[in-house]
Amino acid sequence: MTTPFTVAIDGPAAAGKGTISKAVAAHFGFAHLDTGLLYRAVGARMLTGEDPIAAAQNLSAEDLDNADLRTAEIAQAASKVAVIPEVRAALLDFQRAFARRAGGAVLDGRDIGTVICPQAEVKLFVTASADIRAQRRFAELQERGADTDFDTVLADVKARDTRDSTRADAPLRAAEDAVQLDTTTLSIDAAVQAAILAVKDRL
Ligand code: C5P
Repeated sequence: MTTPFTVAIDGPAAAGKGTISKAVAAHFGFAHLDTGLLYRAVGARMLTGEDPIAAAQNLSAEDLDNADLRTAEIAQAASKVAVIPEVRAALLDFQRAFARRAGGAVLDGRDIGTVICPQAEVKLFVTASADIRAQRRFAELQERGADTDFDTVLADVKARDTRDSTRADAPLRAAEDAVQLDTTTLSIDAAVQAAILAVKDRL
């Protein structure tokens, strides 16, 4: 495929966006961008004392190539820098260009269907209860050997939900024309199949 085709996948932390995005991208041969990594990379640089706006303005590929970006500390820092309009503005062009590249693209984040790519051919909004999402995130962190407990992870998930949904600039919300997938009851495999079908319908 040589024309642009954008799949926008939004939703709160640990709802299953990452798994669904990777599966959709692999199935159709589309490129995939996890936009949370951009905010995490800015958050990581803020934690080293850098001004987050300056960090967002000169982010490089090396900033994204950092295994530590997945830690709980950096997740919180990411959601703090994500509130700053200048940080969001600095990351806009890169995301829009990625979304409209030839050959198809899947972007997952919080504002892809609403702000980055309102003209996306397919929009999905993936949700799950805070409890289920915290269970998934806790299992993931344990697998990586992180020293944490369930209550801390649940509190972190809820704090990020609140910060992400109540910020003035590009808050987390479903686009009106998004297909909703609730992975509280739907297995991730079933959600992947539903996502693939939604894309097939538009191709
Ligand atoms: O998706 P992930 O959990 O990696 O995102 C980390 C944080 O980055 C989110 O909690 C959110 O504050 C921010 N983010 C955002 N807009 C996006 C992607 C992520 O504000 N498109």
